[in-house]
This record gives sequence, structure tokens and C-alpha cells, in this order.
Amino acid sequence: MNTMEITKVVGGLSGALLVLLLLKMGAGMYYFPHGGHHEQGYTIAVADEGPAEEVVVVPFAEVLATADAGAGARVFNKCKACHSVDAGVNKVGPSLFGVVDRAQGGEAFGYSDTVAGLGGTWTVEALNEFLTKPSDYAPGTSMSFAGLSKEKDRANIVAYLSSLN
Ligand code: HEC
Repeated sequence: MNTMEITKVVGGLSGALLVLLLLKMGAGMYYFPHGGHHEQGYTIAVADEGPAEEVVVVPFAEVLATADAGAGARVFNKCKACHSVDAGVNKVGPSLFGVVDRAQGGEAFGYSDTVAGLGGTWTVEALNEFLTKPSDYAPGTSMSFAGLSKEKDRANIVAYLSSLN
């Protein structure tokens, strides 16, 4: 090899190295922002979970404290076809006289196995849950009633039923 040839070989190798270096840089530029994006998305997801935990749940007892029994008597029109509020008078459903704090399935009435088997007490909280969606609280209940979706209506009717105790 003469000097000219050596220069060519070295030049060729340097060129190849330069190409490799550029490829590596290119790859770095391609993958690095990708990783950065990923981390940023994660940070946003965590930040989004924050406000959800701050939702204030007002206890039903507090809603009940400002409920209106008179308005509840009007909501009771939805129950009248099946329920009486006279003691011992059963219709399609059991009498609701004194139902607040009464034993669940406690009347002389032909209850479904579900309600007969609840074994608890109709506390204001239990009534609130049951009346939201009876088939959720007592799956298989014979009470064919979709439920009262408005908490205000449930509070008013529980206030009305309490006033009869
Ligand atoms: C279509 C008829 C029907 C309507 C409307 C209805 N109920 Fe009932 N309700 C029943 C029947 C039947 C039962 C017995 C359920 C069982 O045994 O599964 C019952 C059970 C209940 C019980 C449980 C009582 C107990 O002694 O354990 C409560 C409380 C109650 N209803 C409240 C209401 C209220 C309040 C409304 C109106 C918002 C209402 N129901 C509307 C038929 C009805």
C-alpha cells in the first residue's frame, strides 16, 4: 500500500463510522421523545385522579334533616296503588304504617323470599337504598317499582313515612 491508498482506506472507514454515528443519533432522536411522551401521559393520568377523590358525599341523614314530609306525601302517590299507610291494611304490598325502623319483612304479609330473608331493619338508610332501585337492594323482590332516582324525593318520602310512626 502506498500513502494514497492508506488515506483512501482511512477515509472510507471514517465515512462508515460517520454514517453509523448519524444513524445512532437519528435513532436516539426518534426514540427519546417517544419515551418522553409516555411519561407525560402518565403524569396527566395521575393528576386526573386527584379531583375525583374530592367529591363530597352528603350523608342521607343530612339530606333527611332538611326534607319536607308534605312533599313526601305527594311523592307517596306513586306508592298508593300498592301501599296503604293505615295500620295492618295490606294491598298489593304490605302496610307502610310505622315502616321506619320496623323489621324488614315484618308484617303479616306474603313477602318474596328475598324480602322475607333480609333479616334487618328498615332504617332510614336502608329505605333510601331500597327505594333508589328495589331490584338492586332486594333482587327478586315482588315490588314491581323501578325506584325513585331523585335523592330529594327519597328523603321527602322517608320524612313522610317517619311522620306516621
Ligand atoms: C306495584 C306495586 C308497588 C308499588 C308501586 C310500590 N310498592 Fe312497595 N312493595 C310492594 C310489594 C309487593 C312489596 C313486598 C316486596 C317483597 O316481598 O319482595 C313491597 C314492599 C315494600 C317495602 C318493604 C316493607 C316491609 O314490610 O318490609 C317498602 C318499605 C316499600 N315497599 C315502600 C314503597 C314505597 C315508598 C313506594 C313508592 C315510592 C312503593 N313501595 C311502591 C309493591 C309496591
